[in-house]
Amino acid sequence: MQMPTASHERSLDSGAVKSRPVPDHVPPEMVRDFNLFTSPGMLPTANGDPHAAVACVHAGPPIFYSTSNTRDGRGTWVITRASDQRRVLQDTETFSSHRSIFASVLGESWPMIPLELDPPFHGVFRSLLNPLLSPKRVMALEPAVRERAIKLIDRIAASGTSCDIMKDFAVPFAVNIFLRFIGLSDNGLETFVGWARDLLHGDKEQRPPAARTIVAFIDELATERRKEPVDDFMTFIVKAKVEGRLLSDEEVRGIGVLVFVAGLDTVSAAICFDLAHLARNPKDQELLRSEPDRIAV
Ligand code: HEM
Repeated sequence: MQMPTASHERSLDSGAVKSRPVPDHVPPEMVRDFNLFTSPGMLPTANGDPHAAVACVHAGPPIFYSTSNTRDGRGTWVITRASDQRRVLQDTETFSSHRSIFASVLGESWPMIPLELDPPFHGVFRSLLNPLLSPKRVMALEPAVRERAIKLIDRIAASGTSCDIMKDFAVPFAVNIFLRFIGLSDNGLETFVGWARDLLHGDKEQRPPAARTIVAFIDELATERRKEPVDDFMTFIVKAKVEGRLLSDEEVRGIGVLVFVAGLDTVSAAICFDLAHLARNPKDQELLRSEPDRIAV
């Protein structure tokens, strides 16, 4: 979401907050020293608990201004209460979603679709994509998903008493299923995960080449599927129509990049956060073992 920014900026010097440019319209008392990427607990090297690190904002005001809260060091407003977040997300007239987060790494401004579109186009593209992600379609994957999980767990069990859960389970489990879902070969798994790692967790030297590589890959895949259609996600996108017309190259890219990046890091990270919680909280492990119905399916 974007907030209005003033063209003139001033510096703020106050005890806890380092001197950084603050837009003129931001009252000094609303500035807090919080950064989503570098606050204690958020750094991978700290082996911390990022959820707890973020949860600390609940103890503070409902809204504050962080002077450096993006990877490239820009300031943002931080809204800490779910009810206010919902109000902001629903007020698309005031708060646009057109941020071009990915494209801006390349100095460009096309949106990832549908994420960075505002109504009415957000709804138009969601209607196009919703059938692909319907519960029925996802449930159809269940036998293959279970088989993959069992195979990986059996392999871990056979190899000894411990494992690297990210490397030995979460990535080969989640990314394999995701690649199968969008119709890409598992052979590229390591390469694709490496691109996503550089893009999402790399430094400012690593991000632009990773973004360029992903865009080139998606553009090339779209060209291939236009020439030789198969039964997969990208073929669906290049053949799809909105409002009676085929999608533009930029729209195909905007969808392809979002969906590609969305599945390479998110689910494996979520699995590991869940398992880290259980490892740190043996009582919750016991609860799930004694009451397995609590595990939602
Ligand atoms: C546990 C795993 C996942 C988490 C935690 C997650 C999280 C999120 C979040 C927070 C957003 C909103 C981002 C924002 O507003 O800036 C989002 C949007 C989205 N995600 Fe995910 N995601 C996950 C997995 C996936 C997967 C596997 C896919 C693709 C198959 C996917 C596709 C999308 C799409 C298409 C949107 C845009 C929705 C819209 O704008 O209407 N996500 N996701």
